[in-house]
This record gives sequence, structure tokens and C-alpha cells, in this order.
Amino acid sequence: MKRIWLVGVIAVAALVMAACGPATPAATSAPATEAATSAPATEAATAAPAAEPKIAILLPETKTARYESQDLPDFKAKLKELGFDVDKNLIYSNANQDAAAQQQQAEAALTNGATVLVLDPVDSDAAAAIADAAKAKGVPVISYDRLIKGTDAVTYYLSFDNEQVGKLQGESLLAALAGKTNPTVVFINGSPTDNNATLFKAGAHSVLDGKITLGAEFDTPDWSPDKAQDEMTQALTKLNNKVDGVLAANDGTGGGAIAAMKAAGVSPLPPVTGQDAELAAIQRILAGEQYMTVYKAIKAEAEAAATLAFDLATGVDVPASMVNGKVNNGKVDVPSVLLVPVAVTKDNIKDTVVADGFWKASDICTADFAAACTAAGIK
Ligand code: BGC
Repeated sequence: MKRIWLVGVIAVAALVMAACGPATPAATSAPATEAATSAPATEAATAAPAAEPKIAILLPETKTARYESQDLPDFKAKLKELGFDVDKNLIYSNANQDAAAQQQQAEAALTNGATVLVLDPVDSDAAAAIADAAKAKGVPVISYDRLIKGTDAVTYYLSFDNEQVGKLQGESLLAALAGKTNPTVVFINGSPTDNNATLFKAGAHSVLDGKITLGAEFDTPDWSPDKAQDEMTQALTKLNNKVDGVLAANDGTGGGAIAAMKAAGVSPLPPVTGQDAELAAIQRILAGEQYMTVYKAIKAEAEAAATLAFDLATGVDVPASMVNGKVNNGKVDVPSVLLVPVAVTKDNIKDTVVADGFWKASDICTADFAAACTAAGIK
């Protein structure tokens, strides 16, 4: 069983890599014949070379650890490996959860000569305008991790099976609540502007509805952990601290919910879900404060995005074998690369995030967690 997800992730990664092996940049300068026939020799020799391809990556926020500590460095490292000059030709912006700021960042990237946009949208609907503007300039758009909806200007979508993420959270919570009749569960969902949050929520409800009592439910603006903490505080007041489980959409919101419960004196803490396999969450799982997280192989995702972006930027045909699905964005079916998410509890930290090199045992097993690491066989 443990091997299955690894095989899934590796298979897709291998598929992606095999399909897009080192690409030779397409000729970006004027063909030789043209230079020879249209301009005197001296002019041809001094003419400015055609602009080099530029890739822009636009990420949505900084409160969630993954973007700046994993997505961006993994994306850059892969581009470098492919021979792309990231210092000179990569444009990076982070919108800090501000959709209007992201729109401006995208416009600036296009003005500054971006020839491919890799966009993880703050707002899945509003980002259609960004994709349309890119398309008008002939710039392909990769919808990164979150789907850009309602436009035909998305070239590829690259993500995980996000409804499955919610299902894994729901199934794990149900397993943790086995033996309780009609347990009271609080849902702390993600940002209502993020299409992924809608899918996580739908996946979790599809598993839990009819088997639990919904104590309270919130969509968390901006995925803010602070707002999640406030939401959980409200839920505890409403429910007189009687909560059997918390379906939190990611580790940031899960951490906020746990902080609220600790502040309200809830003990023992009920099972809490999460997502992203953040270091702090893995440590909370070891300490028994959080029940589970969902591991998504961000490296595979970022590397696939880099490979696609490089091929598009350098004019290499992306082989059809690279995509493994299609996702409808309300306007068109977008060719997609979808990776496999994995549920992580105390029992399989070692065989998932550690085995995959996502975290080293030494990252996780600091002094406070040394004993829990030994008990979980992590070394
Ligand atoms: C991503 C999650 C992330 C969340 C908050 C979602 O779209 O898929 O990995 O935790 O946004 O940034």
C-alpha cells in the first residue's frame, strides 16, 4: 500500500521528465537567410539579438510556508538544470493574497517581456483577466496548483487531485473518530477565492456528510491562520468547547484551530486534519497535537512546471504524453498534469515525507521531538 503513492508520483514525474528531456532552445533570432538578404553585412553583424525568452512565476501568498521555501526554489533549480539563466531571465512576484496586486504583477511581467506565465492565482475567477491579457500577447499560461477559471487562455494546468486531498482528510478524520456516534466536527475551509479550497471542501463533505454532526463551518479568507484561529474560537463558544474533530483544510488553518483550542483549555485535543506536510505540522503530529496532514510532492509539481515552462519558452513542442488528464475550467478542457496526494499520520511519516526526502529526520527530530521520533522509528 505504502508503495502505491510513491509509484504514482514517481511514474508521473518520470513521465514528465522522459517526455521533456533536455530541450535545445529554439532559434529566437532571425533566420540567417533573412539577415543575409535584408540588411547590409555590417548592420547584420551589429543588429541587437532577438530578446531571450523570459519566464514569469507568480505565486499567491507568503503565510503558507510552501511557496517561498519549496515551490520557488524547486522551480528555479529545475530551470537552472535545464540550462535556463534564472538570474537574468526569471521574473518572480508574490501577491501576498492580494488579487489586484497579482493582476499588476502579471501586467508588469508581460511589459517586462515574459514569454511564459506560470500563475498560481489568488483568485481563480479574477485571474481569467490575467490569462486573457497574456493570450492577447501570444504568451502561454501555465495554471500552477490552482485552476484559472472561465477562460480559454490557459495552456496547461498542473496540480494534484484536489478533491482527493479533501477525501483523504475526511477519511482520516473518520478513522480517528471511529467509535463515536454522530461526532461533532468543525470545518475550517480554505479561501473562498481559491478553486482548490472548493475542491478540498467538496471532497471532505463527500466522505463526512451523513456520518457527523456539523458543529460549525467557515471559509477562511486568504487562508489566514489567524482568521482560522478566530473562527475556531467562535465555534468553541457556540459549542461550549464540545468538539470531537476539526476538518482543517491545510496545516496553517489547522495550526490556528489548535491554538484556539489550547487557549480555550480544550484537553485532550480532538483530531485535527491538515495539508502540506509543513515541518511544524509534522512535529505537531509527532507531539499528538495534530492528527494528520496531506503530503503533496511539491518538488515533482514545481519541476514539472519548470520543464513545461522551459519547453514553451524555448519553442519545443510539449509531447502529448506529458499530460495525464483534462480539467474543465468552466470554459474549456485544459490539458493537465495531476499528481497524487498522500495522507500522513504518525505511523507513516517515516515512509512518506522522510523516505521521499521532503524532510530529513534531522529537520524533524529537534530536541523537543527526539523521543517522539524514536517512538515513530524516525532517525
Ligand atoms: C494549495 C495548498 C495551500 C493553500 C494555501 C492551496 O491552493 O493547494 O497547498 O496550503 O492553497 O496557500
